[in-house]
Amino acid sequence: MVIKINFLSLFLCLIFLFSLSLAKTPTRPRAFLLPVTKDASTKQYVTTIDQRTPLVPIKLTIDLGQRFLWVDCEKGYVSSSYKPVPCGSIPCKRSFSGACVESCIGPPSPGCNNNTCSHIPYNPFIRTSTGGELAQDVVSLQSTDGSNPRKYLSTTNGVVFDCAPHSLLQGLAKGVKGILGLGNGYVGFPTQLANAFSIPRKFAICLTSSTTSRGAIFFGDSPYVFLPAGIDFSKRLVYTPLLKNPVSTSGSYFEGEPSTDYFIGVTSIKIHSIAVPINTTLLNITKDGKGGTKISTVEPYTKLETSIYNALTKAFVSALLNVPTVKPVAPFQVCYNKTSLGSNQVGPGVPPIELVLRNKNATTYTSWFIWGANSMVAVNNDVVCFGFVDGGVEFEPTTSIVIGTHQIEDNLLQFDIANKRLGFTSSLLFDEITCANFNFTTKA
Ligand SMILES: *[C@@H]1O[C@H](CO)[C@@H](O)[C@H](O)[C@H]1NC(C)=O
Ligand SMILES: *[C@@H]1O[C@H](CO)[C@@H](O)[C@H](O)[C@H]1NC(C)=O
Ligand SMILES: *[C@@H]1O[C@H](CO)[C@@H](O)[C@H](O)[C@H]1NC(C)=O
Ligand SMILES: *[C@@H]1O[C@H](CO)[C@@H](O)[C@H](O)[C@H]1NC(C)=O
Ligand SMILES: *[C@@H]1O[C@H](CO)[C@@H](O)[C@H](O)[C@H]1NC(C)=O
Ligand SMILES: *[C@@H]1O[C@H](CO)[C@@H](O)[C@H](O)[C@H]1NC(C)=O
Repeated sequence: MVIKINFLSLFLCLIFLFSLSLAKTPTRPRAFLLPVTKDASTKQYVTTIDQRTPLVPIKLTIDLGQRFLWVDCEKGYVSSSYKPVPCGSIPCKRSFSGACVESCIGPPSPGCNNNTCSHIPYNPFIRTSTGGELAQDVVSLQSTDGSNPRKYLSTTNGVVFDCAPHSLLQGLAKGVKGILGLGNGYVGFPTQLANAFSIPRKFAICLTSSTTSRGAIFFGDSPYVFLPAGIDFSKRLVYTPLLKNPVSTSGSYFEGEPSTDYFIGVTSIKIHSIAVPINTTLLNITKDGKGGTKISTVEPYTKLETSIYNALTKAFVSALLNVPTVKPVAPFQVCYNKTSLGSNQVGPGVPPIELVLRNKNATTYTSWFIWGANSMVAVNNDVVCFGFVDGGVEFEPTTSIVIGTHQIEDNLLQFDIANKRLGFTSSLLFDEITCANFNFTTKA
């Protein structure tokens, strides 16, 4: 009994100390911000984070579904705060690593340490992976109130990433030193930030279609306010569940790892409210991880399994029956003279593609409309093409629909990992806003 009372008073005392220390620190940020640009020559989406001690800006290509952040540790990695992740540790286990480097030949250096957890960084642009040690280092980010970046920077030493050889940078945009994996898993950057900074496990992306302006990624909880009207798009989100795929859909993985890609439940595709006749079995995720619909930032155009591609293209062409097609421009198969389609606020004047999505409540559905600006691609001044591509035969065994970047530009997407749901806005162009309308002027 006496012991119990002592414990209780100790506990109260700790609470008291804790609240005192909280009162002294400035308000802890609830959200962080990264600017994103579209690289003109590769069409990759690129951002910069500050990493290491002393901090260095590191340019990275964004891969929405990749399991973790990986960087080139072979050339120019200098940091006094670099820490290898030991074999058997919690981050190692939770990363689904199946390898341990007991002894690295050569002097100890970032990427070469004994008894270190090893993983497989993957470059989706050259479809190549290597082995590399898992490590932790300092990351510093700019906080946001959802309207502007804040002056206040936050730094943590706890962000897990993987080390890659210099050769894995092939095919990445100029100056890029690795890939920022925003995947849905423990070692994914959003979950690492959430754990390091005690912010909610959610993030939102707004990608620009232009290569000369910046879009934004928000981590944590904040409004998403865009100029000029100051509309907060967090209030406009419509939700659909994020689905689990039990088997990794990465180009390389250890057995037993679930997919870190973001899957959603497309149940049908409609044009003018009429369902396109497709084999709906392909829309479900099978026990061995095949089929279904995921979102990607490494595919420039939505990739469809061949039979879905053919059916959708046919339905689209018949919906535009009176409009003549012109000679197609690869990789597209259906193109039109821009003048003959006309245009409206949300791009070329074509019927929207309606993705009918599952709700948490299995008896109701939510629709994501893909309007002209997102369905059509201008291949030159005169010609616009139906911006979907055939996934081909070799593609058939994996994901049936991979929604690419052209289809999500100037839309705001929120990946709410904690609540297992995707929030989306459809085209911001309805409000005469693009993802470049975030105010990047720093506020105190
Ligand atoms: C790993 O351990 C071996 C054996 O103790 C040692 O020779 C080697 O230098 C160590 N390597 C590193 C990178 O620490
Ligand atoms: C639909 O797709 C599944 C999976 O590929 C296949 O087994 C089935 O035969 C297809 N059904 C039809 C009617 O084509
Ligand atoms: C797909 O999955 C849903 C939900 O689990 C189920 O209701 C539906 O019958 C499945 N469709 C097909 C074609 O297997
Ligand atoms: C598109 O239409 C315009 C106006 O009718 C015409 O001047 C132009 O040559 C056409 N371009 C192509 C590629 O058909
Ligand atoms: C689903 O939602 C509809 C409308 O919001 C409601 O009428 C229905 O009872 C719900 N069904 C379930 C199973 O929750
Ligand atoms: C952007 O934000 C800054 C800082 O709050 C503000 O001074 C400026 O007026 C804003 N720009 C526009 C165009 O509203």
